[in-house]
Amino acid sequence: MDKRPIGIFDSGVGGLTVVKQVIKAMPGEDTVYFGDTARVPYGSKSKETVTEFSRQIMRFLLKQDVKAVIIACNTVSSNSYHDLETEFDIPIIEVVSPGVESCLAVTKTNRVGVIGTAATIKSGAYEHRLKAARPEIQVFQKSCPLFVPLAEEGFTENDIAKLTVKTYLKELKDKNIDSLILGCTHYPMLKKTIGEYMGEEVKIVDPATETAHKMKDFLESRNMTSGKEKGSHIFYCSDNCSQFNMICNKNLEIQCRVHKENAERY
Ligand code: DGL
Repeated sequence: MDKRPIGIFDSGVGGLTVVKQVIKAMPGEDTVYFGDTARVPYGSKSKETVTEFSRQIMRFLLKQDVKAVIIACNTVSSNSYHDLETEFDIPIIEVVSPGVESCLAVTKTNRVGVIGTAATIKSGAYEHRLKAARPEIQVFQKSCPLFVPLAEEGFTENDIAKLTVKTYLKELKDKNIDSLILGCTHYPMLKKTIGEYMGEEVKIVDPATETAHKMKDFLESRNMTSGKEKGSHIFYCSDNCSQFNMICNKNLEIQCRVHKENAERY
């Protein structure tokens, strides 16, 4: 048994889509979440900057005595995971591999789409791993940077969201894909709008579910589960806490306690 919390972080509210699946898969675990709302978006920044921001958040989470960390951010997972894994002596689970595994399980035609931030798409992480696992797969990618501020603003199903989805995804819709990986943790907040535009024949793959199960399997295999019935959840963000609190309550359907913390101090 290990009663310490699981640390989870992202550039902003996006990682809450992962927290939601973590609570579902492991209701007895405590979590500590950090959303770097002062410095969002990460997707337009360099690998060096994203890695440095992530190091600061990792140090903050370690101070909260977490037992393991989920990088609930595709941009960090695809650009900085190897650096973080080498530098920090704590189990770290990222979101790209679970997304790849989920997609391989659902595609029948091997024509798949990947959407993410500019930094995630540029890293080629999804394409490389999909092709390494199944060389015949065809991967069509598109970065959709405006989905992040839409999610942060809570604009997920209105006309602005619908027009933005159509503008970005038109070229993928024309590619006859049968599955689409939401390669940014903010994007599941727009899942309904994206799904309606792409049509029923395209399966929407959200890596969050598989990520949560990966952490669950890991904790169980090491006898590191909390042994509790119901976990508690603490949220930190680096700016605009009231907006974060609103999105948090809306997405998690639990009363969230949000605290302000400056990651740069770590
Ligand atoms: N939610 C993050 C991701 O999964 C980062 C989005 C951003 O800050 O640009 O990539």
